Amino acid sequence: MTVILHIDASARTTRSLSRDLSTSLVALLRERFSGAVILRRDLASDPPPFVTETWIKAAFTKTEARTTADRAALAWSDAAIAELERADIIVLGTPMYNYGLPAALKAWVDQVVRVDRTFSFDLARGDWPLAPILGGKALALLTASGEFGFAPGSIRETWNHLDTHLRALSSYLGVAQFHHIGIEYQEFGDARHARSVAEAKAALPELADRLASGPETSS
Ligand SMILES: Cc1cc2nc3c(=O)[nH]c(=O)nc-3n(C[C@H](O)[C@H](O)[C@H](O)COP(=O)(O)O)c2cc1C
Repeated sequence: MTVILHIDASARTTRSLSRDLSTSLVALLRERFSGAVILRRDLASDPPPFVTETWIKAAFTKTEARTTADRAALAWSDAAIAELERADIIVLGTPMYNYGLPAALKAWVDQVVRVDRTFSFDLARGDWPLAPILGGKALALLTASGEFGFAPGSIRETWNHLDTHLRALSSYLGVAQFHHIGIEYQEFGDARHARSVAEAKAALPELADRLASGPETSS
């Protein structure tokens, strides 16, 4: 049974381009994976708590030594990690806010990327002491931005801290296959935006087919 974790991060619940893309992709995946289980995380309506000093102390305390307060501090993280562990495919819809992740999405990342749960830490590994614990998942990242030119070689490449950021940490989410489709030009509302929307929507069925065709090593 395929498990799909559907996450949205846009503060807009209406007229959201990234929600439109993620909802459409999940619908296409439902057609390809009969009986798929859909886990839902709406980070706008249910924002994750920020990591606190108590959370950090608890995360770095061995499970058997944790206090009641430690366990309470990690409860949201435990639930979110349990969903992530179950997921075969993560469908993540997010806007670009201030050239990077919306705060709610960053808070989710901080809650789920956790020592001894999603990564291990060992200085015996030299300069790269972190190693992923989870693996084999596919991530379909669906983004929307008001400006444009964030792709490699484009005019705002160095301003892009959204998909690049998620790609950098994706192994700690257990991601082996990273796919990205983005809509640009939202703030211009012109023909370029219309074309960007049309191209993104047109790319979804092929992405659904790739996700349905099984494991790939990269994209
Ligand atoms: C708080 C905020 C910050 C934004 N920052 C940027 C930005 O840095 N760069 C950009 O291209 N667009 C930016 N935008 C525009 C959004 O990325 C754009 O409206 C996008 O379509 C929002 O996604 P959504 O349609 O899924 O809500 C920002 C919008 C908001 C509300």
